[in-house]
Amino acid sequence: MSTQYFKGSLFHTPSHGELEFIKDALLTVDEKGLIQTILEPSDAAYVEHLTNARASNQFVELAEGQYFLPGFIDLHVHAPQWPQAGVALDAPLATWLEKGTFPLEAKYADVNFAKEVYNDLVAHLLSLGTTTVLYFATIHQEASLALAEICGKQGQRGLVGKVVMDLESMNPDFYRDNSVAESLEATESFILAVKELGKDVKQGVYPVVTPRFVPSCSAEALAGLGALAQKYDVHVQSHCSESQWAHDHVIERFGKRDTEVLNDFGLLHDKSVMAHCNFLDESDGEIYMETGTAVAHCPISNGYFANSVFPVKKFKEQGLEMGLGTDISGGYSPSLYENIRQAVISSRMLEDGVDVNVGPENRGVQNSRISVVEAFSLATQGGGEALSLPIGVLKPGYACDLQVIDTNVKNHRISSFGVFEKPEEILQKILYLATKENIRQVWVQGNLVHDKNEGA
Ligand code: GUN
Ligand code: FE
Repeated sequence: MSTQYFKGSLFHTPSHGELEFIKDALLTVDEKGLIQTILEPSDAAYVEHLTNARASNQFVELAEGQYFLPGFIDLHVHAPQWPQAGVALDAPLATWLEKGTFPLEAKYADVNFAKEVYNDLVAHLLSLGTTTVLYFATIHQEASLALAEICGKQGQRGLVGKVVMDLESMNPDFYRDNSVAESLEATESFILAVKELGKDVKQGVYPVVTPRFVPSCSAEALAGLGALAQKYDVHVQSHCSESQWAHDHVIERFGKRDTEVLNDFGLLHDKSVMAHCNFLDESDGEIYMETGTAVAHCPISNGYFANSVFPVKKFKEQGLEMGLGTDISGGYSPSLYENIRQAVISSRMLEDGVDVNVGPENRGVQNSRISVVEAFSLATQGGGEALSLPIGVLKPGYACDLQVIDTNVKNHRISSFGVFEKPEEILQKILYLATKENIRQVWVQGNLVHDKNEGA
């Protein structure tokens, strides 16, 4: 395939919270799907490249009212929980896992069921503009591998983990690894199989070492997984200090905080992403900084299970890497747009407080609010940084992952009737008001993976 060209106005954040708008940008993309150049109309080479683009049959040109955004990066999805999205959100975490989630995940012993659900989920996430996903699968080897294959085939950049949960006292007989040895062997062969698969996938698929969370794993399993992560230099994901119960449980069992335990077992490094992290303190934050570990902030899920609001602003000021996660199905919505909105709303409630019986000066946590542009950064640039991959920002050497947003779709029009026309205002309206109908096309690594214009 020769050079591809994309012309249109674009929004992205080169760094956290720093918005860049380029009107009528012209992107050239190489045969690997990487951005080569981004030209503005004032650049000397613009006219020449535009002439080449017009002569090419690989030219995408946006109309008035259409915009490019970077593809979104979802740092926390439980793929097997997709059938449960929107259900059973009234129980606390431990009950929710035991009564609803473990019986559902056990069904993925049936690989045909797994393929049906995973095909639907991957297509659905792509249609919502999500181009990269960090997935938990289940304990099942075959079904987990099927998820990686489906990502590969549908053109999504998938990072997939076969879940490890081996502790007899914490996991039911019908859904548990049989032994430490078996869970480590299976993880190692899964890593090798996904690495092999990834060789033929343009956008990349990656294996992820995935202890479910400290409460579900033996010390031997955690140590073995830490060693495997190091041996193969692969990503690691887990849940860390999510709820009051999960946080206290780890302290009771190990006499240490969740972060310290994960670090002691060699599970925190530059390619590690920990979900939730609600009960982190500053000393935990320092360990995150030293090891390069990132946070997957899951604001909708946190409303149900975390017993708290994660202080995004505080930990960004400490310097932590951070992105957004939907946490399907702890979070009901598969949409990162919805999670961007909730991240802003939750931060505002954290800042203002919620109990009017407390005086206004003591009601909230000062300096907690984040802007919608900062939340957009988390869903794009922050996610890429968390995964240590060249994604989420539109610049040379980065993957050409794009969503085409059309603000002129019938019955889904996003308009200020000429009143709010500054670029940042246009982006704010897109982030708050866009529906699935406004996401017309999605491109991953230069491949078209979703096309509403074709009635997909
Ligand atoms: N902690 C352990 N497992 C899970 C899970 O599946 N979802 C959430 N939200 N938290 C967990
Ligand atoms: Fe989760």
